[in-house]
Amino acid sequence: MSLNQKRIAMITGGNSGIGLATVKKLAQHGFHVILASRNQQTSAQAIRQIQAANPQASLESIPLDLASFASIRQCAATFQAKGYPLHLLINNAGGSVPGKQASFTADGFEMTLGTNHLGHFLLTNLLLENLKQAAPARVITVSSQLHDPNFTRGPKTDFDYDNLRGEKYYNTQVFYRNSKLANMWFVYELQRRLADTAVTSNAVCPGFVPEAIGARRKSPLARFFYTQMMARMPFARSIEQASDSYMVAATDPALEGVGGKFIVDGQEKRSSDESYDEQKARRLWEMSWEWCGL
Ligand SMILES: NC(=O)c1ccc[n+]([C@@H]2O[C@H](COP(=O)([O-])OP(=O)(O)OC[C@H]3O[C@@H](n4cnc5c(N)ncnc54)[C@H](OP(=O)(O)O)[C@@H]3O)[C@@H](O)[C@H]2O)c1
Repeated sequence: MSLNQKRIAMITGGNSGIGLATVKKLAQHGFHVILASRNQQTSAQAIRQIQAANPQASLESIPLDLASFASIRQCAATFQAKGYPLHLLINNAGGSVPGKQASFTADGFEMTLGTNHLGHFLLTNLLLENLKQAAPARVITVSSQLHDPNFTRGPKTDFDYDNLRGEKYYNTQVFYRNSKLANMWFVYELQRRLADTAVTSNAVCPGFVPEAIGARRKSPLARFFYTQMMARMPFARSIEQASDSYMVAATDPALEGVGGKFIVDGQEKRSSDESYDEQKARRLWEMSWEWCGL
């Protein structure tokens, strides 16, 4: 099948973890997949590895550092210069930033919110016309059930506009959870703004995936703990299961034209009460729009 007959997908952070497993499945499904990631070497390695197993896989890579507005704008411009339609955008990249002190993006935003939320906010908005022109099209944003204070123990979300850069305190887990709440507000607000189009916006949580967490750990003990011990827990999900969930959001015909959902284990689930607060979602959208210089 030639490229102009294929559906085109872009995924952020497709060079490792759940993103990489999803790239394989999207390629098997017949998509031309663009890996938008900051490490071109690992992307090239991932492409070689996938094509060795599946020579039909149609893949390419575009540089993207979500912690830099300039890089995000360059990524969107590079994509647009190719003249492709865009049928699927998966906002997958992200994680948390360990440490006692906040760190910052190239544009001065706290790194976790800057990467997980603001980077994807800007990228999606820059690509929205491409998605609308290719519609039906889907935007999927990877959040986490940790955005819900009732989901588990541990620090709760604390989305305080006076502490977004760690002015009062910094806590890795709180800032990660806040960024995933921001993802939920973004997903629902985007869906409201796309209501009269054939582009949909949904959120996915991959579940707790110790294999992916462990692969990042430098300490052999921590790696062992996650990949061998935590991965056997009944509440853990494998990278295969997690990427299956992404595939439901990306390809399930039952979700054609359906947006504003939170998908966990391939099923629709209710997200936190706060995530449905339309005023808070609109406020974050308007602030993000200004911060991104849109
Ligand atoms: N694993 C879990 O238990 C779990 C649970 C809930 C939600 N999630 C979410 O699932 C998604 C995928 O995570 P994962 O577990 O597969 O982790 P992972 O293997 O660490 O993947 C994270 C990806 O994000 C990329 N990334 C990080 N910062 C970036 C930046 N500034 N610009 C561009 N790319 C960047 C990484 O690229 P590099 O390779 O260059 O670092 C990597 O490809 C994340 O959004 C995560 O929050 C994971």
